[in-house]
Amino acid sequence: MTLSNADYIFVNGKWVGPGEALVPVEDRGYQLADGVYEVVRVYGGRAFALQPHLDRLARSAAELEMDLPLTLDEVGALVKEAPGRRGVEDGQVYIQVTRGAAPRVHHFPEDARPSLVVYASPLRRQPAALYETGADAVVVPDERWLRCDIKSINLLPNALAKEKARRAGALEALLLREGVGMTEGSSSNLFIVRDGRLETAPASRWILRGITRDIVLELAAQAHIPAAERFFSKEELLSADEAFVTSTTMEVMPLARVDGQAIGAGRPGPVTKTLMAAFRERVRAEIG
Ligand SMILES: Cc1ncc(COP(=O)(O)O)c(C=O)c1O
Repeated sequence: MTLSNADYIFVNGKWVGPGEALVPVEDRGYQLADGVYEVVRVYGGRAFALQPHLDRLARSAAELEMDLPLTLDEVGALVKEAPGRRGVEDGQVYIQVTRGAAPRVHHFPEDARPSLVVYASPLRRQPAALYETGADAVVVPDERWLRCDIKSINLLPNALAKEKARRAGALEALLLREGVGMTEGSSSNLFIVRDGRLETAPASRWILRGITRDIVLELAAQAHIPAAERFFSKEELLSADEAFVTSTTMEVMPLARVDGQAIGAGRPGPVTKTLMAAFRERVRAEIG
């Protein structure tokens, strides 16, 4: 992939190069994390599952009473344009909307106009071997706010959790919410398989309803794999037959060990493998 350094960042209503892609210091995203975002996967230069991402962006913004500066279709057109502007074949498009720039106050300012940023980046892929062997994860406390269903740019607790995983030599931090159960990963949704049945946390304020999660549930139904949306405990995770996480960038990633303890046989199990293959097939079918 040869990357172009031309005008590939959409900011303040136009495409500019990295040197000109600047936002004001009083942008509320910068000072208050007052914004929402999406990450759309790009395969072969084309955006995958674009509409569900746009719909989730609209929902996140509406939950924060934030307007989008363009129509959803116009944002979609920018997302489709972004990979070609940078020569990105295998990568992602990042979309961010903030409430805009205004003198710093906590309440919504009257005169701020929402600001939109769109650009494509090449993907830093996980090593192919990890999909064969399964990855390591650790369980950490879920210290996020109570509206995890909104894809807000306030990712500090997620970043702190991911750093704990990194320091433990693990790929992902799995979040345990006191009184609720296992919720999700720091940047992924979590699934287990027990007695042939798939389980994942219900779409609720405790998790981000992942686009990949929903596709995997759909694929499971097509493959006649029973699935339940319920919260499970850390003990149920550790004693599961299989476990995996899903996200736009990782797709379906099997987990071999959690907190150093093997999950099932300690390698990707049959249900996980079926869903990994079905997901790749879905990508092929949509992208061509
Ligand atoms: C907290 C959290 N949960 C789940 C996901 C997976 O969502 P998706 O499949 O839409 O990428 C993400 C993705 O970044 C995330 O940050």
